Amino acid sequence: MHENLAIFTGTGDYIASNELQNSVNVAIALGRPLLIKGEPGTGKTMLAQSIADGLGKELLIWNIKSTTKASDGLYIYDTVQRLYDSQFGDHDVSDIKQYIKMGKLGEAFLATSQVVLLIDEIDKADIEFPNDLLWELDIMSFDIPETGENLQARHRPVVIITSNAEKELPDAFLRRCIFHYIAFPDASMMKEIVNVHYPELEQKLLEEAMAAFYWIRSVGGLQKKPSTSELLDWLQALTVGGISPEKVSAEFPFLGVLLKKDHDFNTVLQHLHRQGKQVKSAAGIPRSR
Ligand SMILES: Nc1ncnc2c1ncn2[C@@H]1O[C@H](COP(=O)(O)OP(=O)(O)OP(=O)(O)O)[C@@H](O)[C@H]1O
Ligand SMILES: [Mg+2]
Repeated sequence: MHENLAIFTGTGDYIASNELQNSVNVAIALGRPLLIKGEPGTGKTMLAQSIADGLGKELLIWNIKSTTKASDGLYIYDTVQRLYDSQFGDHDVSDIKQYIKMGKLGEAFLATSQVVLLIDEIDKADIEFPNDLLWELDIMSFDIPETGENLQARHRPVVIITSNAEKELPDAFLRRCIFHYIAFPDASMMKEIVNVHYPELEQKLLEEAMAAFYWIRSVGGLQKKPSTSELLDWLQALTVGGISPEKVSAEFPFLGVLLKKDHDFNTVLQHLHRQGKQVKSAAGIPRSR
């Protein structure tokens, strides 16, 4: 299949390390789902958009919730609508096909060209969810008993699955996936990431903010270290707030943009006070309780 030869090299708005690019390309070449793990805010969800953009393919997003069932991704037989139509409608309800609504996997199978299918946050669902999907992802087809049809994927979708590791995934599922852990970006990669979002940012401000950011991440005992997305928000807050680079390391303004837990906030404040820094506990934004 020629579509398997597409090569992902990242996009202008998304910085993908060489290892990540390789994992994506291996998964595409082997026709296997790519399972992406990594800290929150490290670009797992955005990767799927970047792959779709980079390869010029449509992106279908299946957001997984705690109540999502694997069968929701295949199709839903809308019996309620059929019943309603049979009682109040004026058209023929014997054609069951009109009440079969495709789920995201069904849509991906029906698509006339290869799509990228993001199954986002698979670990939110029930522990059985990944196993229940295995068969359909393996054989790329499923039956619709209500109509007696078998739906075969016209083009094997590029399947990207993200997980925040809230739950362990079953071994049988892991065996079928290509796995990639997005390592937390080092400073030079982080600069590149910031640069695609804020190309005009003052370099001195960026350096001070990054030094403060990586220092905070190094403080022991944090329950939730700030991540890429929080750094991006912080840089925006600093810019909008007209904060000078000198003030960043002296006052750590808007600390609540980086730290979301009271425990972490207090831990960092204690460390700063020990260093003789007089950071206001409110740090410029209201604290939540
Ligand atoms: N490598 C990257 N290149 C460009 N932007 C990035 C990168 N990594 C993260 N970001 C930015 O960080 C933010 C968070 O990314 P994203 O939502 O994809 O993270 P996530 O890993 O899916 O987080 P969560 O686990 O909370 O869902 C986005 O605004 C994204 O633009
Ligand atoms: Mg995400």
